[in-house]
Amino acid sequence: MHAPQKGAVMKRRFCMILLGILISGLSAPAETRNILSFDAAWRFFKGDAPGAEAVMYDDSKWRHLDVPHDWSIEGPFAAANPTGPGGGFLPAGIGWYRKHFTLTPKYAGRRIFIEFDGVMANSDVWINGVHLGKRPYGYVSFGYELTEALRIGNDKTNILAVRADNTGQPASRWYAGAGIYRHVRLVITDAVHFVKWGTFVTTPRITVTQAVVRVQGRIMNQSGKTGDAAVEIKIVSPEGKIVGSANTKPLKIPSGRTVDLSEDVIISSPRLWGAENPDLYQAHLAIRSAGAVLDDERISFGIRDARFVPETGFWLNGRNMKIKGVCLHHDGGAFGAAVPLRVWERRLQQLRILGVNAIRTAHNPPAPEFLDLCDRMGFLVMDELFDCWTIAKTPYDYHLSFKDWAHIDVRDTVLRDRNHPSIILYSAGNEIRDTVNEESAKKILAGLVAVFHQYDPSRPVTQGLFRPNASHDYDNGLADLLDVVGTNYRDLELLAAWEARPTRRIVGTEQRHDLATWQAARDHAQHAGQFLWSGIDYLGESSGWPVIAAGFGLLDRTGAIKPMAYERMSWWSTTPVVQVVRRTSPSKTVPEDPGFVPVMNRQSQFADWSPADRDPHEETVEAYSNCEEVDLLLNGRSLGKRPRNADDSPRIWKTKWEPGILTAIGRNHGAVVATHELRTAGEPAKIVLTADRTYLTQSWDDVVFVTATIADRDGIPIPDASGLVSFGITGPGIIAAVDNGDNSSAESFQASERSAYQGRCLAIIRGVAARGKITIAAASSGLKGASIVLNCGGQLPRIRRRSR
Ligand code: GAL
Repeated sequence: MHAPQKGAVMKRRFCMILLGILISGLSAPAETRNILSFDAAWRFFKGDAPGAEAVMYDDSKWRHLDVPHDWSIEGPFAAANPTGPGGGFLPAGIGWYRKHFTLTPKYAGRRIFIEFDGVMANSDVWINGVHLGKRPYGYVSFGYELTEALRIGNDKTNILAVRADNTGQPASRWYAGAGIYRHVRLVITDAVHFVKWGTFVTTPRITVTQAVVRVQGRIMNQSGKTGDAAVEIKIVSPEGKIVGSANTKPLKIPSGRTVDLSEDVIISSPRLWGAENPDLYQAHLAIRSAGAVLDDERISFGIRDARFVPETGFWLNGRNMKIKGVCLHHDGGAFGAAVPLRVWERRLQQLRILGVNAIRTAHNPPAPEFLDLCDRMGFLVMDELFDCWTIAKTPYDYHLSFKDWAHIDVRDTVLRDRNHPSIILYSAGNEIRDTVNEESAKKILAGLVAVFHQYDPSRPVTQGLFRPNASHDYDNGLADLLDVVGTNYRDLELLAAWEARPTRRIVGTEQRHDLATWQAARDHAQHAGQFLWSGIDYLGESSGWPVIAAGFGLLDRTGAIKPMAYERMSWWSTTPVVQVVRRTSPSKTVPEDPGFVPVMNRQSQFADWSPADRDPHEETVEAYSNCEEVDLLLNGRSLGKRPRNADDSPRIWKTKWEPGILTAIGRNHGAVVATHELRTAGEPAKIVLTADRTYLTQSWDDVVFVTATIADRDGIPIPDASGLVSFGITGPGIIAAVDNGDNSSAESFQASERSAYQGRCLAIIRGVAARGKITIAAASSGLKGASIVLNCGGQLPRIRRRSR
């Protein structure tokens, strides 16, 4: 045989490259399983478009955009918007999305699936006019097989259409968002493949010397003929080394059927997943048949032992610890429901500074990459579904779907989430009103708990019980259907319920910020810990127009730590803390059940020494500190040293205000271990620009927070400055959003200017090219402007989004 001529080879290569370029749709690397982001190049139409799922439609009416996309956050805010105070006065309605794509011939014979991480809400999906299904609950991930309705070929266009409908309002007590607000991907497999979410990795036995890793999975055969296959399993250590392996015996898989596998792999000297060392292993699975790999999967997991014990609360890897948790809604402030992962990473970093170690996803399953982040950062998670069962809290909420969908939504959430080491608890609901009807509530709860256990027997289930003494949950058997009894707010009642039956495991599912409630957890070994309402301010649950957000957070919605949060830090942090604030009024009284009483989120702690009243007057200074001794100095003069109060309450000084420097010095055993200083600001003179990072990547999930602080000529922040700041940007970046954290401002988040609130506002920047320098400038009338440079590219992406 003649070797082909060099020219012919070149020509063939050229044709292949040309073909590759001509295929505008998907071109996949030669992998066993192709996972392709399907986020780019959608068309969007707001309103109802009759026939919008059809191929022919006036394209000029459709906006071209990428998902994740939350059209509600684009606003405008308006008192008359149907979401009302619950939804932060943002719009609701119908949104249509279409995506046109082609599939190269190499995908012929493959099985092709679409996966949506979340569509808000009541979604319908069509492929080429064929209706694939409906999904009412906007917080669950779901998917469909597209294969049979697809057109394969370079000249064949496929149209995926999605209708999201949240017209019925109010539908939520907080901001929910609207549209395809999470990531979308296409998964392309062989006809013999692992079933979606079918793989479950657990670690039933852990000792110092070894761990048993149990890998369970399910294989589907859609090839039309019965076949033999075996599954190869490799366990890969956090450093990427293969540390264990197993092969199943040959499996006969009948056509059109599934087959289950279960293998135990022994790992020596396991590295345990925990808050300090969130070490993650991977299970690599491959289906082999006749020498070829048909499908493969990589599942990230952790080796850890988490348990709730009746007498001693929560234990992780043999260590007793208090859960210091916060409740978080799913919005990302200025981004609404479509939240870049970096927003969450930064927020979690801030919460960690305060000593937070756990998150309750109130009151719904989060985006899957949020759980990946908690796995990587070592946060514990309570994964919750449902703010209601069959009794409504708002007219169009989930009670309309509960009967038909609750078990399906629990099943799918558990299947999706059960490999995350961060999850230590599932919750079957928040303050569920059905408990007033004792018998039916018990029936519903027993049904839900059974579904949780069926799909994940390794984790306990709790619930945020609502006034359990009023509905007799502790006495009528309802509370004891839960593996861990969880109660919102009423911690003394919870402790009494434990006294009545000390075999109960107990946790506070939702708490206010006060000291007495913390003491109830801190001082009782049986109390596993608490989840504060809330970790971060969130959109919605407004006390009335023009308030658009709720201010219960330790952080404001831009991620800034609030002065009041330092008190929490002094209780929860394990490093020395000293922070001082001016306290302008005594602690506000918080109602027993905040959900029922309008709460004014009035601020009474201010981390500045620049009061509006510049005449001599008395100020109350509070120091939040875990140090043995705090000395407070005003302009170098000691106002007195205070020892730690036995109950950990703040140390308080009354002093006559004078301009200058207020310094707090924290000492342990006589040595200075922490200091904090406040300085009186002069006249506003300039803008100081700071960035949380000076580089970013092009990823949708990566953003940089650029903060403009209005300061005097020495750079001291002006705490009441409220001037309008205009941002300009040059280079390969965009202003993805602006914000100032003010819950009473109905200004748009999609702008290039923003009023300062308490002396600051932010522009949040996204990179739009692989490389280049981005310059952000900020200007405000009467002030010296500033600029800052960010580098786009050039760094390894810090934000890794899950590929599956
Ligand atoms: C609780 C409720 C939360 C939130 C909070 C503050 O009772 O569970 O979802 O509404 O009140 O208002």
